[in-house]
Amino acid sequence: MPLTAIVREVSSSINDCELSFQARQPIDVAKVIAQHKAYQDCLADLGVRIVSLPAEPELPDAVFVEDPAVVVNEVAIISNLGAPSRRSETRSLANVLLRYRPLKFLTEPATLDGGDVLRIDRSVFVGLSRRTNRDGIDQLGDLLGSSDYQVQSVEVKGCLHLKSACSYIGHNTLLVNRSWIDAERLRGFELLDVPEEESAAANALLLNDVVIIPASFPKTCALLEKRGFRVRTIDVSELQKAEAGVTCTSLIFNDEAMATSPGPA
Ligand code: GLY
Repeated sequence: MPLTAIVREVSSSINDCELSFQARQPIDVAKVIAQHKAYQDCLADLGVRIVSLPAEPELPDAVFVEDPAVVVNEVAIISNLGAPSRRSETRSLANVLLRYRPLKFLTEPATLDGGDVLRIDRSVFVGLSRRTNRDGIDQLGDLLGSSDYQVQSVEVKGCLHLKSACSYIGHNTLLVNRSWIDAERLRGFELLDVPEEESAAANALLLNDVVIIPASFPKTCALLEKRGFRVRTIDVSELQKAEAGVTCTSLIFNDEAMATSPGPA
């Protein structure tokens, strides 16, 4: 299935990013830009078409394009982000998504970050987190329910987003850190626990049968390979200082469904 990834260049103000569960450390802007470029090259190498948006210098977290929208084959849902500092990230993203999907919008009092949304076929698990509230989950459920998706909530504690603690890696398997989520909600899937020393390793990006994880998690890499998964590691050390993983810096969707303009952004 042809895939498109919307990405956004790194903001020069990334050192002012939101942090919820991590202490602030200086981010080397040149290095983070280089790492983000290598990430895009990795996606392109796996067959994904990259649509790159210009940086938003006033919006430190704008590189995390996964959060402002939820895209499925039928619709793109523009969110009301959980962190007030991030809310205007939606504007330019919505303008681009309009080329690919009809848009729908979450409205106050709903808040929701795309990092809390884990879709596996027609099942959509949504983290009830510091960023995503009950209204956000209910509104998303109403909007996606009309396209025959089943939305259910998963309580998240101790990390930023649901996908900080849980990712689908194929073969009916979820890579998880159960200490951060109510894993009871995920019954029916095989749960593969990340090693205790690599608590943040459950954020993985599955692309065309390859599981991408940060290079800083060698034990998780070995575990996945031992279980027969194809793994690619990528150095995202500077992005990790912004409380990021490997899913949040791209917004990936099926290219063919409902595209209205094939041209680059
Ligand atoms: N720095 C990523 C976020 O907090 O949204």
